[in-house]
Amino acid sequence: MEHFSELAKKRRSHRKFTDQPLTDIQLETLLDAALMSPTSKGLHSCLFYVVESPEQLKSLSVSKAIGSQFVEQAKCAIVVVAEPEISDVWIEDASAAAMSILYQAEDLGLGACWVQIRERKDSNGTATEKIVSDILSLPASHRPVCLIALGHKGMERKEQNMDRIEALKQEKVVRM
Ligand SMILES: Cc1cc2nc3c(=O)[nH]c(=O)nc-3n(C[C@H](O)[C@H](O)[C@H](O)COP(=O)(O)O)c2cc1C
Repeated sequence: MEHFSELAKKRRSHRKFTDQPLTDIQLETLLDAALMSPTSKGLHSCLFYVVESPEQLKSLSVSKAIGSQFVEQAKCAIVVVAEPEISDVWIEDASAAAMSILYQAEDLGLGACWVQIRERKDSNGTATEKIVSDILSLPASHRPVCLIALGHKGMERKEQNMDRIEALKQEKVVRM
């Protein structure tokens, strides 16, 4: 197992995928990582909808005006859906789980990209949340937060630019 610091350097957003499907073991590993994420008070306020059908992936790809079109080429999307009735900090629970999926994907050598759903609209101005809820037939109490598009990497991406990270350290880190 490589060190987490190496994994963090390697992780980038991937929006191009090959035709190779994910294996059941890869999918199970990704879902385990999501379910092992920290949740406020251990309440597990999120559900994880696994979308693999090309038709549904295409529908998801046009659920936003920008930033989702590549989902059509993904082999799978895990939609992170929260139940606000379970926890007042459902957005944080969902975001922690989404990050776990991203890092687990990199650890498996897979490509992944976060696609924002909450607060976004499609090209007609319809809320992406409503469109995705309809695609997944979600009850009104369930709120899709984001999805993680997944597949085998269609191209390599450079590691994180550590010069930029050093510059950000000066700008964004306040040591008290
Ligand atoms: C909250 C959030 C929302 C994002 N939404 C999208 C999105 O809708 N579409 C997309 O292609 N990338 C999305 N991204 C990925 C960012 O564009 C990406 O992480 C950023 O450009 C940095 O690139 P890197 O992930 O390769 O380091 C999102 C990332 C975060 C954390």
